[in-house]
Amino acid sequence: MKSLDLRADFPQLKRIIRDKRLVYLDSAATTLKPLPVIEAVRESMAFGASNVHRGAHFIGDEVTGRFEKVREKARRFVNAANVGEMIFTRGTTEGMNLLAQTLGRTHLAPGDEILLSQMEHHSNIVPWQMIAGEKGAVVRFIPVLDDGSLDLEAAYKMISSKTKIVSLVHLSNALGTINPVAEIFAAAKAAGAFTVLDAAQSASVMRLDVGALGCDFLVFSGHKIFGPTGIGILYGRFELLEALPPYQGGGSMISEVRENGVTFLPPPNRFEAGTPAIAEIMGLGAAFDYVNAIGFEKLEQHSTQIMLRAEAGLRDIQGLRRIGTAAHRSHVFSFLLAGSHPSDVGAILDEQGVAVRAGHHCCQPLMRRFGIPGTVRASFSIYTSVEDVDALIGAVYKAKDLLS
Ligand code: ALA
Repeated sequence: MKSLDLRADFPQLKRIIRDKRLVYLDSAATTLKPLPVIEAVRESMAFGASNVHRGAHFIGDEVTGRFEKVREKARRFVNAANVGEMIFTRGTTEGMNLLAQTLGRTHLAPGDEILLSQMEHHSNIVPWQMIAGEKGAVVRFIPVLDDGSLDLEAAYKMISSKTKIVSLVHLSNALGTINPVAEIFAAAKAAGAFTVLDAAQSASVMRLDVGALGCDFLVFSGHKIFGPTGIGILYGRFELLEALPPYQGGGSMISEVRENGVTFLPPPNRFEAGTPAIAEIMGLGAAFDYVNAIGFEKLEQHSTQIMLRAEAGLRDIQGLRRIGTAAHRSHVFSFLLAGSHPSDVGAILDEQGVAVRAGHHCCQPLMRRFGIPGTVRASFSIYTSVEDVDALIGAVYKAKDLLS
């Protein structure tokens, strides 16, 4: 396998940590940022400081035009039909909260069910638990099998006329499992439920197509696809968004405000109260261009090949327990070393310049399901090199020696 030569695009890879070159294996937490994204943010702050949809001046119009172009790039990114279906959010978490507080608030009644899975990130659990508590609805969880795949037999049995919302992760941040969401969503829609996709991890390695996926709503974060933090996208089918109330009130989302009432703009503006994250949106636009220039075939292939190399290199290490071995998986290698806490392993890897995440990965129900406190998670991206994986393998062997 050849290492890709776009590492030069990522300045952070030049950092030296404790006299060692940085081996960045925490891309599922956030990807590194390439130069075009950094430059787009800098350019916006240096020369494009203006609000959008407001200014009666040249730069205001220029920035508004660029801002709306990013919305169009987002539409193409998920192959949506209508640019009005793309809403700028702060990220996946805000997207889920927006849906819980609008879709959940208007469509849930006592006894209704929200179907999630045991492998969901807290951002796809807690907002639903909060609204279910208010509405007397019930949150149910599709079980996860020992290999880290969903129990599909159970899933289909759990979908019924009581199911109002099915919200699932596409690619698990803790396991790497890629779920057959299109099939589950087809069953959910046949039962009359709304379908929501958490594409936070899949957006950086899989081409998203909201029609083929069968999702009514989809959320992802800019910072996991090489873009800035604090910006994300919520896609929603236009006729569904149009029927939802606003999430937050303020400027830019109203049609008219009177002392005795208010009318709201149609989507997407109805859901974008206040000044948006303009510089971050410019960075996100550059991130879309960057991803498109590489191509999804290469993104997925490279991350998967790197993961398979890590698996092969660590296969024979005694006492290593891999969590997440589903047949369809990508770019995440989660494991435990027998007799060691994941944080201790993470600290030893860090001392060797290998940056991973250790802990529950915001997936406590999943960790409870496996009866473990957490895992050590190495996660890969387009800039991860063969040398990085070999450094991980060496560092894990060292941790094993030090901890046994
Ligand atoms: N959801 C991010 C992760 O998996 C933060 O690390």
